[in-house]
Amino acid sequence: MIKLITTLFTGLLLAGQVYAASGNVVLAQSEANVSDQASLQRGAALFFNYCSGCHGIKYMRYARIAEDLDLSEEQLMSNLVFTGAKSGDLVKSAMPAGSAAWFGAAPPDLSLTARARGSDWIYSYLKAFYVDPSRPLGWNNTVFPAASMPNVLWQRQGIQTLAAGHGDEGDHGGHGMRLEDQFELASPGSRSAAEFDQDARDITNFLTYVGEPAALDRERYGVWVFLYLVLLTGVLYVLKHEYWRDVH
Ligand code: HEC
Repeated sequence: MIKLITTLFTGLLLAGQVYAASGNVVLAQSEANVSDQASLQRGAALFFNYCSGCHGIKYMRYARIAEDLDLSEEQLMSNLVFTGAKSGDLVKSAMPAGSAAWFGAAPPDLSLTARARGSDWIYSYLKAFYVDPSRPLGWNNTVFPAASMPNVLWQRQGIQTLAAGHGDEGDHGGHGMRLEDQFELASPGSRSAAEFDQDARDITNFLTYVGEPAALDRERYGVWVFLYLVLLTGVLYVLKHEYWRDVH
C-alpha cells in the first residue's frame, strides 16, 4: 500500500516537473506585495492612465479602490478617472463595444487575470514586448506570442528588439532564456530599466490586489487575530495556574 502511494506520489511529482519544463517561457519574479500601499497607488495611477482605455476591471468599484488604497474619492475621481464615471460605478473598459475588430482580439477584463495567470506572468508580460514588423500593430511579446495588444508603455520602457541569437526567424518562443537576456534596448524610454521594472511591478501589484481585494482585509485582520491568540494564551496560562493551585 505504502509503495503504491509512494509510486503515485512520485508519478505526480514527475508529471508536474515535465509540465513546468514544457512551457519554454521563463517568468521574472514580480515580488508583488499587496500591503505596499505606495506601490498600489502608483499602480492604480498607471492602470488608469495606460490600461483602462481598453481594459475594464468590472468587479471593482471606484469607491472601493479609493477606500482600500487610502485615497479620497475626490483624489481618485479627479486624478485617475477620465470617463465621467461616478464613484459608485464599476470600473468598466472605456472602449466602445465591438471594438475587438481594431485589435483582432477584444481586450479582456483584467479583474481576475492575476489569479488566472499569476502575478509573475503579468509582470513578465509587461516587460516582454518587442518590435516585430510582421505583426499588425508592429509589436510582439515573448511571454504571450502574437498577442494583439501593442506595447502601451513603450514611451516609458523604450523600444526593445529581440536579442541576437535569440532564435530562428519566426520563432518567438522564450527558449528558456531569462527574460532580461531576451532583448536589446534599441532606444531608451523615459524610465531607466530599474524604474521601468518598478512601473511593471506597481501595475502587477495593483492587478494582484484587484484579483483578490479581500487579501488586504485579511492582512489587517491577521494582526488582530494574532494578538488575540497571544492574549488568549496568556489568560489561559494564568487560569491553568489558578486551577492547579487547588489541586496541588
Ligand atoms: C490599445 C488597447 C490596450 C491597452 C491600452 C492595453 N491593452 Fe492589454 N490587451 C489588449 C488586447 C487587445 C489584449 C488581448 C490580446 C490577445 O488576446 O491577443 C490585451 C491583453 C492583455 C493581457 C492578457 C490577458 C489575458 O489573460 O489574456 C494583460 C495582462 C493586459 N492586456 C494588461 C494590460 C495592462 C497592464 C495595460 C496597461 C499598462 C494594458 N493591457 C493596456 C489591449 C490593450
